[in-house]
Amino acid sequence: MAFIVKKKINGKDYYYLNENKRVGDKVKTKTLAYLGKTKKDAEKKKIEIMKKIKGGEVERKVENKLKHEEISIEGLANFCKRKGFVYQSADIYGGFAGFWDFGHLGVELKNNLKQNWWDYFVRQREDVVGIDGSIITNPKVWKASGHEDSFSDVFVICKKCKKTDKVDKHEIGKVKCSFCDGEIDWENIKEIKQMFKTNVGGDSFAYLRPETAQLIFTNFKYVQENARMKLPFGIAQIGKSFRNEIAPRDFLFRLREFEQMEIEYFVDPFESCLYKIGDTEIFIYSEEMQKTKKDFVKMKFSEAHKKKIIKADWHVYWLEQMFLWFVNLGANPNNFRLRQHINDEKSHYAVDTWDLEYNFPFGWKELQGIANRSDFDLTQHQKYSGKDMRILNNKGEKIIPSVVAEPSQGVERAFLVFMFDAYAKNEKGEIVLKLSPKLAPVKAAIFPIVKQPEFEKISEDVFNDLKKEFNVIYDSSGSIGRRYARNDEIGTPFCITIDGDSVKDKDVTIRDRDTTKQIRVKVSELKDVLRKLINGEIEFVDAGKFVK
Ligand code: GAP
Repeated sequence: MAFIVKKKINGKDYYYLNENKRVGDKVKTKTLAYLGKTKKDAEKKKIEIMKKIKGGEVERKVENKLKHEEISIEGLANFCKRKGFVYQSADIYGGFAGFWDFGHLGVELKNNLKQNWWDYFVRQREDVVGIDGSIITNPKVWKASGHEDSFSDVFVICKKCKKTDKVDKHEIGKVKCSFCDGEIDWENIKEIKQMFKTNVGGDSFAYLRPETAQLIFTNFKYVQENARMKLPFGIAQIGKSFRNEIAPRDFLFRLREFEQMEIEYFVDPFESCLYKIGDTEIFIYSEEMQKTKKDFVKMKFSEAHKKKIIKADWHVYWLEQMFLWFVNLGANPNNFRLRQHINDEKSHYAVDTWDLEYNFPFGWKELQGIANRSDFDLTQHQKYSGKDMRILNNKGEKIIPSVVAEPSQGVERAFLVFMFDAYAKNEKGEIVLKLSPKLAPVKAAIFPIVKQPEFEKISEDVFNDLKKEFNVIYDSSGSIGRRYARNDEIGTPFCITIDGDSVKDKDVTIRDRDTTKQIRVKVSELKDVLRKLINGEIEFVDAGKFVK
């Protein structure tokens, strides 16, 4: 039962809503909400809050005592290995730099992430279709795209710590060692090509693709015709890319084998953006701010466009969409910023590039590059292949469309973001991975309260039914508390317990990972309720009978 209490702090009155709860044989008091400075206000607020408590809102807020926990990249790598998310490739042979394997939980999380991206940007949009291109293709593609000649990094050695690293070409002579801040030996630098070469058939060579994008450009005309796409439209692809990175580092951050989720969005450069640019806020760090050594500022996307900080309307639109995808999946918006490439930093194909950056434990780093590639690639392929890459615009004129925005996201970097933002601890100091239920590798764990045939029978039936639709696990070993903790640590959003009442009432208890609140739900409705909970279609406390 909740009640109002008055507290005197520095001579002033403050009112709070408290509640007594029996824990074992003790009664504990906890504060549910602050009610204001006068009794009248407090009583009014209490009524509002009590109404909400029945619906669960306030309880949810108050009970969710999870605290986000900072963890280093090495700490995260250890956690991922310990729980079965990610292992160093060929670890038993000492590993292999830049290559990692995903374990039984990692593969589920990675698949969920990719499927969610595909659903959000391809299935739910009528203006985007997908392809799946080959990893090895005709090497002429890489000549035309400019990669064969220009895609290289500069290999450097630090005079002080002797470590090797890479720098971008525009950084030559300008930067210090990224490990120890020591002087770099600029007299001993080497240019290293970033594309991996391989043999095909007898003597002929080919490259492993360094980006998925080119397969979209080479298939552009077929896809446009077969899918009957009209400008503006996008072609998306998810797949492996390979880069011979000089210095792979920071766990999954810089890899030699990784996956990309890319969209090439083709527009008529003379037509404006069809969609509204929203008022979402993000930190912005323009070229001008970097050159004049100003701090980045929080700004609405609409304002950044109005002030011409980000010039092309389609570019702003896609930057906002990409940011919203992360935020809608539970990432912390304050850990993101948009940074414009300074002029000599841009890739050979780009007119203007903005990186969506994330505040990693090792600093603000590129999470996703969103370049304006204009008509560079289609023009190049038209020139090198001799095939006409033009299509009809909406006025019936033949044009080579522009890629005003190419959102290009590394899957592993997105994986890191969701892990970092989910890593939390509860009041007992235990790890709770508060991943969005949509991303969580295991959606629910099913427990018979004790190992007895009548509970186990219902639990197995529930498990067998749920596994047809969701990745669920059955766990009957150890105390219920231990089973909750085990599942909290791997991010399982819901634990389902079958107890004595389940036999009688044909219902089960569902426990919510983040609030530890519990509801009772009929077995017959369980699958439907779980689906709605995972998709965020209902609030937990509205999904069943609240257990006090
Ligand atoms: N098609 C454009 C393109 O590939 P990019 O900026 O070179 O652009 C896009 O790469 C994204 O791919 C990066 O923002 C990052 O998320 C991911 N990525 C690139 N190189 C990577 C690497 N060595 N390891 C892991 N992810 C990488």
